[in-house]
Amino acid sequence: MKRPLEMAHDFLAEIVTKKDIVVDATMGNGHDTLFLAKLAKQVYAFDIQEQALEKTQERLDQAGMTNAQLILQGHETLDQFVTEAKVGIFNLGYLPSADKSVITQPQTTIEALEKLCHLLVKGGRIAIMIYYGHEGGDTERDAVLDFVSQLNQQEYTATIYRTLNQVNNPPFLVMIEKLERYRHG
Ligand SMILES: C[S@@+](CC[C@H](N)C(=O)[O-])C[C@H]1O[C@@H](n2cnc3c(N)ncnc32)[C@H](O)[C@@H]1O
Repeated sequence: MKRPLEMAHDFLAEIVTKKDIVVDATMGNGHDTLFLAKLAKQVYAFDIQEQALEKTQERLDQAGMTNAQLILQGHETLDQFVTEAKVGIFNLGYLPSADKSVITQPQTTIEALEKLCHLLVKGGRIAIMIYYGHEGGDTERDAVLDFVSQLNQQEYTATIYRTLNQVNNPPFLVMIEKLERYRHG
């Protein structure tokens, strides 16, 4: 069975082409940025830590990828840089190798999700990996689940992928797809 992160990548890879603009909302060590850079025309990647940009740049250089713009700003400002996106990915929580007190926050995460949903092309997708074992993680988890559950079903489909029999708060995946056509009724 696929792990949630593998599922997230497959969910996005299924629709991304070399014509597409995509968003990595939480750059971190750049794994998702590199993954998306290989598939897309252009990646816009966000993080609030200088260290994340350095690590990600290193990773991209090693792979010879030049199609990612690394932005040292919160993802809640993404609409200042991007006008449309085919897909986006969020990996919530903290950067394992860095200061564990720097975590994504419910308010800014929801603001970024709202903005990304708005500028997502029809048929576009968002993958949200939810880590909630750390302090404050459960509040953010609930805020995201609340936001996603209230998306208009005529415009979006939202799904959850989660193991049911693992201990220690395993991360899980929320997937959003913006429908090609507004569904009436
Ligand atoms: C779980 S890590 C991301 C891991 C990353 N996707 C990878 O492949 O290594 C979460 C990241 O979100 C960043 N972060 C926290 N608040 C943020 C915000 N408002 N906007 C963008 N990134 C943020 C943290 O600095 C941290 O690097």
